[in-house]
Amino acid sequence: MDRKLRMGMIGGGPGAFIGDVHRKAARLDGQIEIVAGAFDIDPKKSKQMGQELAINPKRVYGDVATMIEKELALPEDERIDFVSVCTPNHTHFPIAKAFLEAGFNVMCEKPMTLSVAEAEELKVAVQKSKKVFGLMHNYTAYPMVKLAKDMIKQGDIGKIRKVIVQYPQGWLARAAEKEGSQQAEWRTDPKKSGAAGCMGDIGTHAANLAEYITGLAIKEIAADLTTFVKGRRLDDDGSCLLRLSKGAKGLLHASQVSIGQENNLAIWIHGEDGSIEWHQEHPNWLYVDSLGAPTQIWKRGNDYVGEKSEAAGRATRLPFGHPEAFLEAFANNYCNFADTIRAKNAKKKPTDVEKDFPGIKEGVLGMKFIEAVVESSKNNAAWTKL
Ligand code: NAI
Repeated sequence: MDRKLRMGMIGGGPGAFIGDVHRKAARLDGQIEIVAGAFDIDPKKSKQMGQELAINPKRVYGDVATMIEKELALPEDERIDFVSVCTPNHTHFPIAKAFLEAGFNVMCEKPMTLSVAEAEELKVAVQKSKKVFGLMHNYTAYPMVKLAKDMIKQGDIGKIRKVIVQYPQGWLARAAEKEGSQQAEWRTDPKKSGAAGCMGDIGTHAANLAEYITGLAIKEIAADLTTFVKGRRLDDDGSCLLRLSKGAKGLLHASQVSIGQENNLAIWIHGEDGSIEWHQEHPNWLYVDSLGAPTQIWKRGNDYVGEKSEAAGRATRLPFGHPEAFLEAFANNYCNFADTIRAKNAKKKPTDVEKDFPGIKEGVLGMKFIEAVVESSKNNAAWTKL
């Protein structure tokens, strides 16, 4: 590494949730420094965040357009290398597109856009720009998820028959959007969140996890969405049947009204020769079964994990018994994203493990998932193609 990559951020102002996670994770491995940002919709709060982060006040901006103009005016060796878009959903598309068109690499939060049409347009912008685009589906960056993917690729559980993925939470069981929760307010507003509520917010993570681990594509969906909380404008719960490629079948359940559930993303994959099970709330262990034999528990940090899966070994920092989780998963995506930028800057091809982070393809799939789920549910859970 000849120098740290220079990061800019949009969003992540005072009281925001995910921007701070990005900042901590991006800096975890010492490869990235944060040098600029438009951190809040309110320019005063953006300034306040810049002070908290001890960023040069000249590089703390009040809005995106000014940030792009002023960053482009700087010499190339001072300018940001990439920007992370950590704002509510409706702003991802215009902000990401503007930075790509100005020649910057982009890391963007999910869901990528508000519609498939916007997602396809962003795909064209990525292709034209020749810049690196990352999408923060952090759950596929856990080492044991990468191990599961490689086990399946290596044929350990045989042909996949059934995929069961769940993502229940309980934090929207009451109308938090009417009780002053900044995060609940925009998530339940169709103009800001998009066509789906719960399914867009966390159902997309579940779908992405299922497709990443299995290597299969969700082809058709029969979805039943519900809004349980009175007056809420978007779904807060949903159940889907899935038809995946190669004849596999599946179930996907996501909910934000399941009291007692915190962030209980979990997946079971059943093949002809065995099964794999992973739980986000206990992410350091992977359960592997074969017929008539005791359950194996593979534990993160052991040499046998890295020997089985290069990607899982690379995604591990601490020895066994010292848990790694959410922040490290974000950091893993940042490492691979940064290494891909470095490779491109050096006019080299990034390796397969360096390229192992979600991007524009997963973003388009996520939007197709949302639109299919909403359409199916409107049609009494009719089978709907993605
Ligand atoms: P939040 O409401 O906590 O924070 C949003 C921030 O963006 C605020 O500081 C707000 O002032 C700022 N902002 C809004 N418009 C802006 C603009 N035009 N320019 C500059 N700043 C602007 O929202 P939260 O929960 O942090 O979510 C942000 C995004 O991250 C969403 O797209 C969400 O889906 C995603 N997310 C992803 C997670 C993951 O696990 N990958 C977890 C939580 C959120």
